[in-house]
Amino acid sequence: MSSTRSEATGALVVFGISGDLARKMTFRALYRLERRGLLDCPVIGVALDPWNDGQLVDHARAAIEAAEPRFSKRVFAKLAQRMQYLQGDFDQESTYRQLAERLKGRRRPLFYLEIPPSLFGKVVDRLAQAGLTHEARVMVEKPFGSDLRSARALDSELHRVLGEDQILRIDHFLGKEPVMDLQFLRFANDVLEPVWNRDHVAAVQITMAEDFGVEDRGHFYDSVGALRDVVQNHLLQVLALVAMEPPAGSYADDLRNKKADVFRAIPDADPAHCVRGQYQGYRQVPGVSRRSTTETYVALRLGIDNWRWAGVPFFIRAGKSLAERVTEVRIVFRHPPHLAFLGRSAHAEPNQVILRIDPDPGLRVVLNSKGSEGRISQPVHLDLSFAAEVGRPAEPYERLIDDALRGDHSLFTREDTVEETWRIVQPLITSPGPLVRYEQGSWGPQEAVQLVRGHPGWHDPWMTTPAAEPGPRSRSGRSKR
Ligand code: BG6
Repeated sequence: MSSTRSEATGALVVFGISGDLARKMTFRALYRLERRGLLDCPVIGVALDPWNDGQLVDHARAAIEAAEPRFSKRVFAKLAQRMQYLQGDFDQESTYRQLAERLKGRRRPLFYLEIPPSLFGKVVDRLAQAGLTHEARVMVEKPFGSDLRSARALDSELHRVLGEDQILRIDHFLGKEPVMDLQFLRFANDVLEPVWNRDHVAAVQITMAEDFGVEDRGHFYDSVGALRDVVQNHLLQVLALVAMEPPAGSYADDLRNKKADVFRAIPDADPAHCVRGQYQGYRQVPGVSRRSTTETYVALRLGIDNWRWAGVPFFIRAGKSLAERVTEVRIVFRHPPHLAFLGRSAHAEPNQVILRIDPDPGLRVVLNSKGSEGRISQPVHLDLSFAAEVGRPAEPYERLIDDALRGDHSLFTREDTVEETWRIVQPLITSPGPLVRYEQGSWGPQEAVQLVRGHPGWHDPWMTTPAAEPGPRSRSGRSKR
C-alpha cells in the first residue's frame, strides 16, 4: 500500500459535521475506529450551526447509539475527548484563522469535505490562504461532477492549490469488502483466473437493485438520476475490478493504473443500448418535479475493446423501487458443448460465478450435475458466505477514513479514472433515450429484456431467502414470484 504510519494524520477536520452524512456514517465510523484503537488524533468539526463542543458530542452519541447495537460508554468517552467544534462560515477568513490556531503544531491535517461540491473550490482556496494545505490531504464526497465538463472543472479548482497526491475522492463502494475481494478471488485462485476472459465468458451482468424509492432525497435525486447516482461511480468501479489485469505491485497507483486501462478500453456508451425507466409514483415524491424525466432505473450495455474482453457484453442495471435489495456481479460462461456421452441430444446450462456484494456478501458457483428423475443434467450451486467463513469485515466508511488517515490512496478514485468514467456515460447524458414507466416492486421495465437479446438473459439475482433461489435462466428478466 502507498502509506506508512509515519505519514499519519495530525488532526482530522470535518467540514459539514452537522450534516446528514456525519449523522448516518461518519460518527459511527469514527467510533468503530476508536474501538479498534486506530484513532489517534483530534477530530475538529466545522459547520455553521451554533453548536459547542458539548452539543457536538451529544449529536455524535445519539447517532452512534442509534446505529450500534453494542454501544460502549468507555469507547465513546475516548472518542468524545478528541472532539472539538468550530462554528464558522466557510466563506469567512476568520473561520480559517481560528482553525489554523487549533491546528498549530499538528502536522499533516486531513480535511474531510462533507459539503456540496460547489463549495469545494472555495474551501480549499481559503485553506491554502490560511497556509493549511502544504502537508494536508483533502477528502471529498461524491458527487464528483455531474458530467465530463463539470468533473474537469472541479478537478481544476482543486488542483489550483492541491497536488493529485493530496486528494482523496470517496466512492464508498470501493470500501466494501466483497468489492475489494474481487481482486483476491480473481488473482489468488488458479481455478478462476485462466477462464476469466472472452474465450470462456459469454456475458457479465452487474445488478444493483434497491427495494426502496427516493424517499426524502427527492430534491437531490431529481437532478441526478440512476446513471449519475450509482452507475458512473459505484458500478463502473466494480466493473473495472471485474475486468482489470493484475496490479504489478502494492502501491495505490499499481491498482489504479489497471483500472484506468479498463476504462480507456471502453468505448463511449451508446444510447441505443440503454434503457431508462422511472417508477410509477416517483413524480409525487416531495422535491421531484411533476414533469420529471429523471430515470430511477437504467440498464445499459458496454464493451471493453482489449484482448481479454473484446466481444463480451457487460450489462449493468440499477434501479430504485425494484422487487428486492441486492447488488451482485454475475459472470455467465459459454454453453458447454453437446453432451454426447448421454447418447441423445443434451445440453447443459452455462456455468456461472456470482459475487453478491449486498446483502450478506458471498460467492456462488453454478455448476451442472447429473440430473435425477429423468432430467439429463441439473444446475447445482456451491455457496459461500464471507461473514460465516472469514468473519465480519470493517464497514466501508470505517475502512476509507482509516485509509485516508494513513494516507493510503488505493481505494480512492483518481482524476483520470473519474474523467474516463464520465466520458463513457456522457453520450447517455447528452442524448438520453426515451423514458419508460415501471411498476414499483417489479424488476424494472420490460424493455431491458430487449437489451440482452442474443446474449444470456437477465438472471433473477441470487437472494438469501430460499424462495428466491435462482433456477435456470429467467427469460423475462422479471421475478417469477
Ligand atoms: C449512494 C446513492 O451513493 O449509494 C444512493 O446515492 C444509494 O442512492 C446508495 O442508495 C447505495 O449504497 P449502499 O452502500 O447502501 O448499497
